[in-house]
Amino acid sequence: MPVLDRESSQDPKGGDGLPKLPLPALKDTLDMYLKCMKHLLTEDQYLKTLNIVKQFGAPGGLGELLQRKLTERRANQANWVYDYWLNDMYLNNRMALPVNSSPAIVFPQQSFRAPIDSLRFAAHLISGVLEYKSLLDSRALPVDYARGQLAGTPLCMEQYYRLFTSYRLPGAERDTLVAQESSVMPEPEHIIVACKNQFFVLDVVINFRRLKERDLLTQLEKIVRMAESEEERLPPIGILSSDGRKEWSESRCVLMRESTNRDSLDMIERCLCVVCLDEGSAPLLNDTNRALMMLHGGGVAKNGGNRWYDKPMQLIIGADGCCGVVCEHSPFEGIVLVQCTEYLLKYMVGSPSKLVRAASVSELPAPRRLRWKCTPEIHKLLSASADKLQRLVMNLDMKVHKFTDYGKEFIKKHKMSPDAYIQIALQLAYYRCHGRTVSTYESASIRRFQKGRVDNIRSATPEALLFVKAMTDGKFTSDPEKMEMLRSAITAQTKYTILAITGMGIDNHLLGLREIAKDMKIEKPEIFNDEAYRISNQFILSTSQVPTTVEMFCCYGPVVPNGYGVCYNPQSDHIIFCVSSFHESPQTSSAEFVKCLVEGLFDMGDLCNKCNPGSNSNKPTLTLEMQTQTEANWRKLFAL
Ligand code: COA
Repeated sequence: MPVLDRESSQDPKGGDGLPKLPLPALKDTLDMYLKCMKHLLTEDQYLKTLNIVKQFGAPGGLGELLQRKLTERRANQANWVYDYWLNDMYLNNRMALPVNSSPAIVFPQQSFRAPIDSLRFAAHLISGVLEYKSLLDSRALPVDYARGQLAGTPLCMEQYYRLFTSYRLPGAERDTLVAQESSVMPEPEHIIVACKNQFFVLDVVINFRRLKERDLLTQLEKIVRMAESEEERLPPIGILSSDGRKEWSESRCVLMRESTNRDSLDMIERCLCVVCLDEGSAPLLNDTNRALMMLHGGGVAKNGGNRWYDKPMQLIIGADGCCGVVCEHSPFEGIVLVQCTEYLLKYMVGSPSKLVRAASVSELPAPRRLRWKCTPEIHKLLSASADKLQRLVMNLDMKVHKFTDYGKEFIKKHKMSPDAYIQIALQLAYYRCHGRTVSTYESASIRRFQKGRVDNIRSATPEALLFVKAMTDGKFTSDPEKMEMLRSAITAQTKYTILAITGMGIDNHLLGLREIAKDMKIEKPEIFNDEAYRISNQFILSTSQVPTTVEMFCCYGPVVPNGYGVCYNPQSDHIIFCVSSFHESPQTSSAEFVKCLVEGLFDMGDLCNKCNPGSNSNKPTLTLEMQTQTEANWRKLFAL
């Protein structure tokens, strides 16, 4: 498989008509870097950094040299930061994919009355995948246009074409994102079905024809029967793919010594996607438990081995109706995953199941079980990987919360950006929990540009800090003053958002300067060895807006051991928050964070209503009775 290098998105021949990602001016980035970090550092740290940054940016200095090289790189490449970013964000990261890197989408709870119902659901879903794949293959997917801030510009579509064609190959030092070329003609194609930790090849194009839903169901039934056979059961090799990337690359080398294993790996690496037929697992099927099941499968005792984490799309269908998708993140962003998933769910609603009562009459060859030759060495590796997965499972502290007091319409009525408002609420929540603000990451799409992925909105602005202090520190600040501070924090956040989505963010630029110095074999510039740079990249709050138009939500884990991952989904009258952290960190607690978040959202909502009484038509002021009720719900929620 060739390394993923396709240039185009909209136009298969290359050149998608989108502008190239701009390169910000060196001075602008350095000034903004100082502004972003000043209030997150001690005075001494800041003074040291100020000096280092000044030296770096001095006329005729190293910064200017690197900037010139980046300008040349921009002239020669479709997107000057793309490879640097991909390696830095994903492929160089040695952490295990589940929880640490792979986000999940959680579907609405399904009610399967009998085991066959879950297979019908799976067959219907796979039909949707094949339908979507043919849209992709014929390049018939309509171009996305930006919504929200600076709406209306076309967006790069390249990420969509990687959904079913890529694979993340583990490497000793760096992974590789590989891709198959897709073709308009239906060629032999297959899906891998995981069932009871066994892997089966389900051919979905036979004799140049895509399998119909009825045939898919028949094949899935055969798979379930085959998986049930105790004598033929093989070890849960999928567990190996849940390990750290270095460890998995080493285990993969051991597996590859046997030709049987090589053949099986090859089938997995070339499949369209993995469909995981899971056993019922969660004790209580609330949103939080379903999110956990999607993120890590519940460990070896549950469905942890029924996965193959290198494959971008893993559709999970639990016998208990707990369903969703877990995705390998390097080929595409959550927004693209949501678009595809929404298509599948809408397809299932809009095109009623085409199953007839009788089973398929066609004589299809039985799906093939993938064989593994397992030496004692492999058994040992499996057991080590299983232990690590178990630790990850025990460590993840997740809380999904639906905030129903108001949603984005209320915020819009107050003439504020809902996204900025939610970001300020997250700053307030962190400050209330921990008494300080920290480096924060918010993903900002740069799909307005060729091969555009994301940059970072640094939401911990000085203006946000002033506001959260005023809301928390107990010193008297009048409501109009607080409102003024909120507006100023929102304005700063919105300005940064526009900066980032127009390609003028600082994170990609700093990364580019760092990496081009490495390419030039120049000693690492001091600015990147500085403590401030380390702090700036330690994203204790890692946040992302992933909105949906279908009932479902996205979630992911934290990116640092003492941090939070916060994925939110703003809807017109409510907001879904998925907050994650690690139990092993004594500093964090997802429940506590959610508690502070909800409290802050109440306070901010009240502040808006008090200061702008004319704009509150969407959110009734709390009557005493309602207040008591809210408090009761609140206490119940946190078992106070
Ligand atoms: N007054 C009234 N309405 C306002 C407003 C204001 N001052 N400011 C914004 N709005 C409206 C917008 O017009 C928009 O309206 P719409 O719902 O009719 O489209 C709505 O509020 C939402 O806008 P906003 O909250 O400002 O955010 P956004 O939709 O522009 O999103 C980002 C901002 C940063 C999240 C978005 O640009 C982005 O990059 N998204 C991708 C994130 C991503 O990649 N996530 C996945 C990572 S894996």
